[in-house]
Amino acid sequence: MNQKITAAITTVAGWVPEDKLTNFDLEKMVDTNDEWIRTRTGIEERRILKGEGLATSDMVVPAVLDLCKKRGIDPAEIDCLIVATVTPDMVFPSTSNIVCDKIGAVNAWGFDLSAACSGFIFALTTGASFIESGRYKKVVVVGADKMSAIIDYTDRNTCVIFGDGAAAVLLEPNNEGFGVLDSILRTDGSGKNYLHMKAGGSLRPASMETVANGEHFAYQEGQQVFKFAVKGMADVSAELLERNNLTGDDIAWLVPHQANLRIIDATANRMGLSKEKVMINIQKYGNTTAATIPLCLWEWEKQLHKGDNIVLSAFGGGFTWGATWLKWAYDTK
Ligand SMILES: CC(C)(COP(=O)(O)OP(=O)(O)OC[C@H]1O[C@@H](n2cnc3c(N)ncnc32)[C@H](O)[C@@H]1OP(=O)(O)O)[C@@H](O)C(=O)NCCC(=O)NCCS
Repeated sequence: MNQKITAAITTVAGWVPEDKLTNFDLEKMVDTNDEWIRTRTGIEERRILKGEGLATSDMVVPAVLDLCKKRGIDPAEIDCLIVATVTPDMVFPSTSNIVCDKIGAVNAWGFDLSAACSGFIFALTTGASFIESGRYKKVVVVGADKMSAIIDYTDRNTCVIFGDGAAAVLLEPNNEGFGVLDSILRTDGSGKNYLHMKAGGSLRPASMETVANGEHFAYQEGQQVFKFAVKGMADVSAELLERNNLTGDDIAWLVPHQANLRIIDATANRMGLSKEKVMINIQKYGNTTAATIPLCLWEWEKQLHKGDNIVLSAFGGGFTWGATWLKWAYDTK
């Protein structure tokens, strides 16, 4: 009998820098205060990768090495490594290539995927398709961002929100119906005006002028993004449940992108989920862009059980958004 191959997550690992930037630190840097940040976003502190010459790959490397150690595999066994990021080490080569070199993943190919805060779920669906095709056996999917590299720490609209971090999952073939089961992914490029980096691409290459204007920092019109995010994340998550005949009762965990506690609450309400079923660590890490969802999976790994229905849900710059349903494949001993 030909059993359909699904792509199961078989290990999770993460890495965050030690240095913390608290709301109280930010009070000394811009016109803001702890109370405003906590009540408007849910964030209390974030991690910042400090040190000369350190980049996104330097967070991915320890995460992926730990992933391999936990699973008992050698990096040379990895077939493909996808890094979802908007803060690659450089425009090219890809961070994936740099990571593979640093960890000795000599048999892997890979690439970076740019979908901002939805990057991890876009990359997970992509990686899962490679496994489902039967062509690859070990695909590593990473979400990683060094947002501190593109944040203007004099701009209170953005500097209170973002942080640095990286986390990764290993995808392997499964014949028992566990793993990634369905995804709804969407993009709308007309949203680009509300959340973007103005310069550094082919449209506005770096120049004295772009640097002087601060155009190499993330730019966000928070209120506009908020409106689209609340609707986008909630709609797509509800649609995913509906088309798979699931209700909130069937779901063990919602793993939402950690952008704003109010957006997370709206999504959970729309899905009919109680607070206890929602992974939230925004207070500790802020918005680490592509890393938020796998960082949650990493932190909650021990509480996840074989057969748990899990919904991942995200919204980000682009606009990009989507939701993924997966059946967890293992218990942690
Ligand atoms: C950024 C965000 C937290 C701002 O919250 P908000 O409730 O929309 O706040 P507003 O922009 O309406 O600003 C409200 C007031 O707070 C002020 N304010 C803005 N940032 C502030 C800060 N860091 N500290 C103190 N006050 C601030 C504004 O100037 C405004 O003052 P006013 O009423 O006197 O004009 C929120 O819009 C948000 O989370 N947006 C979505 C971000 C997101 O999801 N990104 C997703 C992809 S990564």
